[in-house]
Amino acid sequence: MTFDYRQDILACDLVPLPDIAAVVGTPTYVYGASAIRSRFGALDAAVATVPHALHYALKANATSAVVRLLRGLGAAADANSVGEIEVALRAGYAPADIVFTGVGKTPAELERAVALDLKAINAESAGELERLEAIATRLGRRTRVALRVNPDIDARSHPHISTGLKRNKFGVPYEQALELCRGMRGRPALRLVGVHVHIGSQITTLEPLARAARAAVAFAEELAREGIELEHLDLGGGLGIAYDGGVEPSADEYASAIIAATRGTRLPLILEPGRWVVGPSGVLLASVVDVKVHPDGRRFVVLDAGMTELLRPALYGAFHRIVAVRRDGRTEVACDVVGPVCESSDAFGVDRSLPDPRPGDLVAILDAGAYGAVMASNYNRRPMPPEVLVDGSAWRVVRRRQTVDDQLACEA
Ligand code: LLP
Repeated sequence: MTFDYRQDILACDLVPLPDIAAVVGTPTYVYGASAIRSRFGALDAAVATVPHALHYALKANATSAVVRLLRGLGAAADANSVGEIEVALRAGYAPADIVFTGVGKTPAELERAVALDLKAINAESAGELERLEAIATRLGRRTRVALRVNPDIDARSHPHISTGLKRNKFGVPYEQALELCRGMRGRPALRLVGVHVHIGSQITTLEPLARAARAAVAFAEELAREGIELEHLDLGGGLGIAYDGGVEPSADEYASAIIAATRGTRLPLILEPGRWVVGPSGVLLASVVDVKVHPDGRRFVVLDAGMTELLRPALYGAFHRIVAVRRDGRTEVACDVVGPVCESSDAFGVDRSLPDPRPGDLVAILDAGAYGAVMASNYNRRPMPPEVLVDGSAWRVVRRRQTVDDQLACEA
């Protein structure tokens, strides 16, 4: 286990978390390189029997050191903005390793993507195809396009992160998608290379993912019948993790479901995993700044981390386990673990049980490696937190804490 107690002190690999807090302060994100390696490796091995590429979804954690680590493991990249494309390029990914998704790509983003000749621009609409065509024509390019199809499948995840239903803003409905693909034959600036589906995130039942894969295969077969051959099927990301510490879908179970669902095709598969690879590999380390006990007995444990560092609980009501960094035999008490921001939704957990927290104690909020640091904000002029990457017994700051000067550097 990457995060485990060693002599009653929570450590990441061989590094006790208090050692990091003593140098870097809190709140801070701590990631374990070994966990990222083993999780990526497990996924890669699980799909090894079929031609595939794992395009790590940078949106889950786009910190350069993490993106470089994954590049070193053989990951390709899935970017959702020009910012993520530039970070991927600087981390050493070639344009041919990058797919570019996003429901509202701007003209400037499309132009950059066309000029780079990415592996695929995952187009979201008829209008986007028109804009792409105009840009590619102007630049004298034949641009590589995959069409994002909306398969109208319920991912059975949180509604905020379900993307595969007709009522969602993503992709092109199946019938319209067929028409668009047929039409691309007469549009030399557009080269159709793939079909893309992504039905949502934090999906913990495999059946919707398998259904989406079958829909992509059926779509490709329909195109093949009309003489339109693709280069790949992009099945998106979405595999969930067990935030409650229970059983999560394993890499092998996921791979079996996907491989069975795509048995009818010989096209290489693209997968875009984010959360499953990096989520359990990181924690948010925080300190208790106050403990307030109200007359009715309610106990608030106020941390120096809040929705500004980890937004998921406030935004989705998301559950993250919270644990004491030191186990010193104190009695467990019921408490609400909250942040310092003036919003009642700024709470990490209600009715949790922690060993009698006191100011100065360290706590770790688990499974914060994905959609944690990337969603941090400067609300209340709070600085972006630092990030630390642990590797065995070594650790280093891979992003320093932001200063007020850093924030003001962008202002007039
Ligand atoms: N590909 C596309 C096109 C995506 O939109 C996403 C995530 C992924 C891949 C990666 O999905 P994953 O394997 O990480 O589930 N902020 C939310 C999650 C939003 C995910 C959006 N799309 C959260 O904190 O739960």
